[in-house]
Amino acid sequence: MAGVRGRFITFEGIEGAGKSTQLERLLRRFAGNGPEVVVTREPGGTALGERLRDLLLDPSIGTMAAETELLLIFAARAEHLRRCIEPALARGAWVFCDRFTDASFAYQGAGRGLGMDRVAALEDWLQGDLRPDLVLLFDVPPRLGLERALSRGKRDRMENEDLAFFERARAAYLERARLRPRRYRVIDGALDVDSVAAAVDAAWSDWLAAANHGPVPGDDR
Ligand code: TMP
Repeated sequence: MAGVRGRFITFEGIEGAGKSTQLERLLRRFAGNGPEVVVTREPGGTALGERLRDLLLDPSIGTMAAETELLLIFAARAEHLRRCIEPALARGAWVFCDRFTDASFAYQGAGRGLGMDRVAALEDWLQGDLRPDLVLLFDVPPRLGLERALSRGKRDRMENEDLAFFERARAAYLERARLRPRRYRVIDGALDVDSVAAAVDAAWSDWLAAANHGPVPGDDR
C-alpha cells in the first residue's frame, strides 16, 4: 500500500545459533495472508552482494585486513539497501533479513577489534535513520554453535576463527540487545528446534503487541 512503510526484521547470532532455520519457520507461519514479504540475507541479497559474499567467505582468500573485510561488507550492504531493502520497505513489504549491521558490530567491531565507532560511522552514513524494527537474536555458546556449524560440512573463512573470536562476537550481540530492549528479543538457541520456534512465536507476539502501542521512550538506536 502506498505510503505505509513495511517492517524490517533481522535474524542474528553467531554460527550454529539456528537463525536461518528459524527464519524459514517463522516465514511459513507468517507469510500468505498478510503483506508482501521479502526474504534476503547479508552479506548478499543482490547479484553484486552475492559475489562479494563469495569473496568474504572463501577460505582460500585467507586473512584479509579487518578494514578490508568491514568495507567489503558495507559495500555489499550499500547495494542491498539501495536496490532491495529500501525499495521493499517503501512499497510496504516486510523484509526478513538473515543478518544485518548487528553482525558487523559483533564480528568486525568486537571479533576483529575494529571498535564500535567505526562500524557506527558507516551505519550512520549508509543507513541514515534506518534500523531494524525487530532483531531476533539467537544466542548460543560458541562451542555448541561451532560444533553445529562444522557438522554441516566445509568451514568457510569466518568459521576458521577461534573460539575467543566468537566469544567476543556473542558478548557484543548480547550487549547491544541489553541496551535496546524494545527492538531486540534474545532467544535461547541452545534448545531443540521446536522449543526455539515456540520461543520465537512468543517473542513475535510480544513484539507485535508492543509495536501496536507505539515507541517506548528511552529505547535509543
Ligand atoms: P551466514 O550466512 O552463514 O550467517 O554467514 C555469513 C558470515 O558472514 C558469518 O560468519 C558472519 C559474517 N558476517 C560478518 O562478519 N559481518 C557482517 O556484517 C555480516 C552480515 C556477516
